Amino acid sequence: MDARQPPPLLDRALGRVASRFMASRIPSPSVGLLGEPRTRAMLEALDAHRPRALALAAAWDAGEPGASEAYGAHAADALAFMRRRTVELARAPLERAAAAVHRRFGDTDEREHLDDPDLDPRVRVRMIEHLDALNRVIGSYRAFLRAMEPLFARDRPTRLLDLAAGHGGFALDLAREARARGLALEITATDLRAEYLALGEAVARREGLPVDFAVQDALDLSNLAPGAFDLIVCTQAIHHFPASMTARMFREAARAATRGVVFVDGCRSVMQGALIRTLGHLRYRDAGLAHDAWVSFRRFYAPEELGLLARLGPEAPDVEAKWMRPGHCLVRYRRP
Ligand SMILES: C[S@@+](CC[C@H](N)C(=O)[O-])C[C@H]1O[C@@H](n2cnc3c(N)ncnc32)[C@H](O)[C@@H]1O
Repeated sequence: MDARQPPPLLDRALGRVASRFMASRIPSPSVGLLGEPRTRAMLEALDAHRPRALALAAAWDAGEPGASEAYGAHAADALAFMRRRTVELARAPLERAAAAVHRRFGDTDEREHLDDPDLDPRVRVRMIEHLDALNRVIGSYRAFLRAMEPLFARDRPTRLLDLAAGHGGFALDLAREARARGLALEITATDLRAEYLALGEAVARREGLPVDFAVQDALDLSNLAPGAFDLIVCTQAIHHFPASMTARMFREAARAATRGVVFVDGCRSVMQGALIRTLGHLRYRDAGLAHDAWVSFRRFYAPEELGLLARLGPEAPDVEAKWMRPGHCLVRYRRP
């Protein structure tokens, strides 16, 4: 089926309900209700941790061995501090209730099935197809593109590098959209695992989509030619990584991109997790997808948390971090 065909009527109706529900913010009490204590906790964490982070960033830029790892470890400490302070600063009754739900359901060490390299390849492909369908139906991929467009070059094709792209679901959708709208993009989808990229490569070949695929460690972009990419993005992947890795990945991307960086992921929410888990069972009849959705929503970051990780380094003045429809965290860096 052509992935640009409109989804069936039932999916369109479900999609409308789901994206309105997610965009209403009501289902994300932990985002809305904890927003104030979390912002204050983020500012405290920046005050306490930024001086050392800046020193480590300078050592990293100077090529000092181990500095990048030390920067990541320090960022993880800063986030742990911020999370502790968020709970302490949540004093109003509704804030405390949200913090309690958050503590009960937030964070888990459970692994997603899709992270299991030994997962049956047929099950993987089925889950990925459902995930792509879900992303199209709730409008995630379009929202990601809207967040990236302000950073596109105006006078020449934008060279876009997608990190931790997995099977390239977003990169492929972006290529379809670019073709339909005449957007000048040169897209490279990368991941650590060649076998995941191969799934996307097969789709690109079948549909004649101009997407390059390459194995790339998102934590070390030193192999890229200087100025090789204008925009470096990472979608729906950072909840798979510990805070130390997220902070390093963001900085590594900010150092390499000529125009900017966009990282986007789901936003932590118990209620949205329950909604998507239910859709996984009822609409897609895919217990694996339902499981992974629930685990993901528990592991997602909040916008202020990603804001902290991105603002510890010298890029801070040019970083924005916010909640974004239909229920995502956006971190965007625009090179001055
Ligand atoms: C959820 S998946 C990718 C989702 C994809 N970006 C999307 O929007 O559909 C997370 C990916 O991160 C990749 N990954 C893990 N560690 C990595 C690293 N150090 N560098 C690059 N990719 C990595 C995994 O192989 C996996 O494919």
